[in-house]
Amino acid sequence: MSSRESWVSNVGFVLASIGSAAGLGNIWRFPWLTAGNGGSAFLVVYLLIVVGVGVPGLLAEFVLGRRGRQTPIGALRALVSSRWGSALGTFNVLTTLVILSFYSVVGGWILHYALVSPTGAYFGQPQQYFGTASYGLQAVGFHLLFLGIVATIVFFGVSSGIERASKVMLPAVVVLLVALAGWTATQPNTAAGYAFYLRFDAEYLAANFPSVLGPAAGQALFTLSVGSGAMLTYASYLDETASLPRDTLVIAVSNTFIGVLAGLVVIPLLFSQGIDPGQGGPGALFVALPPAFASLPGGTVVATAFFGTVLLAAVTSGINLLETPVATLVDVFDVPRRRATLLVSVLLAATGSGLALAGPIFQFVSGTLADLLLTVGLFAFVVIVGWLLGPEALAEFRAGSGRFDPLAESWLLTVSWVLPVVVLFSLTNTLASLAGASFGLGGRAVVAVVAAICCRLAVAIAVDTRE
Ligand code: TRP
Repeated sequence: MSSRESWVSNVGFVLASIGSAAGLGNIWRFPWLTAGNGGSAFLVVYLLIVVGVGVPGLLAEFVLGRRGRQTPIGALRALVSSRWGSALGTFNVLTTLVILSFYSVVGGWILHYALVSPTGAYFGQPQQYFGTASYGLQAVGFHLLFLGIVATIVFFGVSSGIERASKVMLPAVVVLLVALAGWTATQPNTAAGYAFYLRFDAEYLAANFPSVLGPAAGQALFTLSVGSGAMLTYASYLDETASLPRDTLVIAVSNTFIGVLAGLVVIPLLFSQGIDPGQGGPGALFVALPPAFASLPGGTVVATAFFGTVLLAAVTSGINLLETPVATLVDVFDVPRRRATLLVSVLLAATGSGLALAGPIFQFVSGTLADLLLTVGLFAFVVIVGWLLGPEALAEFRAGSGRFDPLAESWLLTVSWVLPVVVLFSLTNTLASLAGASFGLGGRAVVAVVAAICCRLAVAIAVDTRE
């Protein structure tokens, strides 16, 4: 145990965690989800969920990581029980592997675009270009390259790999995004885009609240990296001097800031070309933005800066996802870090390549399956922290918390009573849409409350029989 790695500084942990949170979720997913769900209306619901669910949930994951001082399997074994800990921890590790499999493919597309942007190769026929770049052998090749970059950083370990890379890459992302947002503001015909994005439309929100809720909740979890044990792993390298509540707030605020900033670049640019961003979907970045770049002076430079920025953000998220399975091999099976990195990378090279060749499965894995895994994972964390650990979790919150100490009780109350219902509600939404069931919002809310009560009873009985 004494040889376990750790962060050199708390700032390093915070930057690496913001780096994890800020990624393709912010720049690739957030703008088109926002645009497709009423702009500002989506923004408001999303922000509420980030504050109400994402922040307390992330804090719960951090509490588990620092309390357990291990990767998910070891931490949950120590905190819950050998059998449940192994099962949940394994589920977490699988989640990170699934997410990184598709994340690395999209990261490969970004890498591809960053490399060819100086020539403007895709300016002429963006649709066709994306068609050949996004699936098949090209996609496999760039996926492997992207994975190689991520693996190289993880190979060097927590402080000399992840922490050092994050300290350079994350500030670079912010500076570049601010510059790009400034440049966008000088472009013609962007007023409609800003208005759509920033002017709060209460009527739209009132009319569409149910349909905005699901995507907003999924995005809030994905963007904060909550629910997979990857943030648990980062927190396991912390000591008791760090203030978990303060760090969580800094991470959530910075991540939201980066997401909103990315929206300030992407949405006005799309509007300036007369493109309805809601129609763009996941291809928006690759298909709808190139005409904007191509039509503007200095387009190749801006396109290179843009995709370079997205690439940096994606890499700092990728290392978070890769660190969890790698560190699990190190913690649980005593495999040396470098060999572990190699082993996991070979596995991901295969699974990612499979996804790059299989379009329909890719859609399912990157959308519904990812949402599902994260929601189930978060539910388990919330149950463990709120219902099983209770006072122990409070103590962990309080250690080093400083002036955030008075918030401890209300945080635990939120985690014990609010989050289980909200997370189950989100789960019923996903499952209902998967099954094509059409019972309304109220019905789902009832299902969530009943399910939460049943789970609470089941946990109480399980604890009782164990004692
Ligand atoms: N949050 C990152 C993004 O928005 C992706 C990510 C990194 C992630 N680590 C994660 C998502 C862990 C879920 C779980 O791009």
